[in-house]
Amino acid sequence: MKAVAVTPGKPHSVHLRDIPTPSVDQIPNGKGVLVRILKVGVDATDREINDALYGTAPDGDEYLVIGHESFGIVEAVGENVTTVAPGDYVTATVRRPGGSIYDQIGTYDMTSEETYYERGINLLHGYLTEYYVDGEDYIVRVPQGLKHLHVLMEPMSCAAKAIQQAFEVQRRMKVWRPKIAYVMGAGQIGLLATLILRLKGLQVYTLARRPAPRLNAEIVEGYGATYVSTENQSISQLAVEVGKADLIVEATGSSWIAFESMKVLGHNGVLVWHSVTGGDKQVEVPADQLNIEFVLGNKLLLGSVNANREHFESGIRDLALGEAMYPGVTEKILTTPIDGLESYNDMMRSLVEDQDALKVFVNVSEG
Ligand code: BGC
Ligand code: ZN
Repeated sequence: MKAVAVTPGKPHSVHLRDIPTPSVDQIPNGKGVLVRILKVGVDATDREINDALYGTAPDGDEYLVIGHESFGIVEAVGENVTTVAPGDYVTATVRRPGGSIYDQIGTYDMTSEETYYERGINLLHGYLTEYYVDGEDYIVRVPQGLKHLHVLMEPMSCAAKAIQQAFEVQRRMKVWRPKIAYVMGAGQIGLLATLILRLKGLQVYTLARRPAPRLNAEIVEGYGATYVSTENQSISQLAVEVGKADLIVEATGSSWIAFESMKVLGHNGVLVWHSVTGGDKQVEVPADQLNIEFVLGNKLLLGSVNANREHFESGIRDLALGEAMYPGVTEKILTTPIDGLESYNDMMRSLVEDQDALKVFVNVSEG
């Protein structure tokens, strides 16, 4: 079957290749689920893997099939599978367990090991192909009524984890009633984080560089949040005007903004860093100032990566609630369809060059 792959370590090596078709009995104990891929989303991670900034082939292979945002339909299941059946729409988690205690209890997104296994990213093949097989534990059912949001399940799971972690650590406060949230970045994660925070009733300011009118500004406003262009209003001006944030989700992809965000976090607040920055940028920071403010303000900086099954499930529930509260808004994120795996060059081009693409995804098969 066809697959889109890279040669890890070699820049711009994206190509189409033929790989063996998997079968359901490859997974032990009758727990296999064979999925036909309908659509796969791509993001900055795929771009950076193709730039050879990171990405590792599975042991014994010299290529890595990319793509980690999957949406498919179950074709066949092993005899002990109970949670999904042929014909169900599904997505799949990205990480697979290593050996730490966290991996063993299903929280592989919190692995304490240096080596992590991620489909389409590190040491495991991804989903930009025609079929995949995996264990039932990693397959998450997508309700029929959310079919139109297809490849957003994985990015949503990451946004859901980031915010769930923030609320979890804030239990240190005994009483925490966050009112103001800033979301740094209005790409897919920023937009989905905006949705989740609005569903929690926060006053949300979503910041991006370019001024409205823009599609992402329309989506932010559609969720009842405020779009702020940093060309019109700096981050610090915003903080003076509306107050510092109780919660900040940083998802711009820029380590500089990650540090800038520290300056506008309020007392007892939490700043979640979510950007995966593959480069080697250096920035100068007002270290004394940030340090004293974090100490005197009991502030917290939290890193968040990936998501486990629970976050997929809560993300899917919030997408459903989002459809009820803000009908028709979330699907606007799905801007840029690409037809077929053969069009992998168009896919990469859109990812690299199209400034207006909020979500590039490949239509792999019909269903
Ligand atoms: C993926 C996550 C992954 C992270 C780091 C992101 O693009 O969506 O699932 O954990 O990259 O590799
Ligand atoms: Zn991703």
